[in-house]
Amino acid sequence: MDCVVIGAGVSGLSCAIRLLEAGHSVRVLAREFSPHLVSDQAAAIWYPFLVHPVEKTDRWGAETYTELMRLGEVEPNSGITMRFGREYLREQVELPGWREDITHFRVLQANEIPNGWVFGWEFQSPIIEMQHYMPWLLQRTRELGGIIEQKEIKDLSEISAEIIVNCSGIGARELCSDMEVKPVRGQIIYIEQDPGFGRYDQQPETLTYTIPRRDCTVLGGTAQSDDWSLELRDSDREYILSKCEAVWPELDRSKIIGESVGLRPSRSEVRLEAQKTIDGLIIHNYGHGGAGVTLSWGCADEVLRIIQEETEN
Ligand code: BEZ
Repeated sequence: MDCVVIGAGVSGLSCAIRLLEAGHSVRVLAREFSPHLVSDQAAAIWYPFLVHPVEKTDRWGAETYTELMRLGEVEPNSGITMRFGREYLREQVELPGWREDITHFRVLQANEIPNGWVFGWEFQSPIIEMQHYMPWLLQRTRELGGIIEQKEIKDLSEISAEIIVNCSGIGARELCSDMEVKPVRGQIIYIEQDPGFGRYDQQPETLTYTIPRRDCTVLGGTAQSDDWSLELRDSDREYILSKCEAVWPELDRSKIIGESVGLRPSRSEVRLEAQKTIDGLIIHNYGHGGAGVTLSWGCADEVLRIIQEETEN
């Protein structure tokens, strides 16, 4: 079928690839491309964060974990490596549903938890270096025959295609008049120092992470809701560093090499659903918050399933 994907971020390109692999013809339309997208700013580790509903996101996350791990093994240019990390919590909580679906998960012993935290777990997950992964996704889309076009869509009715897949991220706020889509601002720091294993406190109120990539470690974070500012803030830098030093006392500030800011496309729930129109079918796939990469392949597979179901008869 003739498909248009709106958006060239991680969600849009993952959908484009799955549609092309299934034999559809695909055009990707986007106002902007990597390296100017929020996906380029993603930290990025597989870890469900700031995203709902959990019953669905656990499944999409598990499917994505498997695919990212496979890509890391068979596609060396994708920039994906598997690393260990530890999540520290201020109180004992229920273990995450996705623990059964990953290669390694264990609850930490008391002597493995830093002062100030009381509970935690160790897990293994894919780390995705977006400076390699985004170009790899674009190249894969092109190799499979996808057409990539720079075009700003102001109204979905401008597009003539049997199927539209709407992965417009924060743009869905205007494009779909969906005021539930809100930015959650995130500032991060890059440091040329390896913590050995990642250290995390992923509660939205205390959000702290040290994500070890091969070239540097990404430090975060902030989660400022409804904050549209793309300016770096000194106060946020200090806030991030002091939080990271609490979980990683060896952090050496003289090794900082950069920083960045991005707006997570947040929504009370991911919108992944079909809308029938007189001209065809729109599948909305947006509102992934801080889990765009984490849910990308699971959501792309779901988009494909919906298209198959809706077009069967
Ligand atoms: C973030 O959105 O900042 C984030 C999400 C998942 C893991 C780490 C950071």
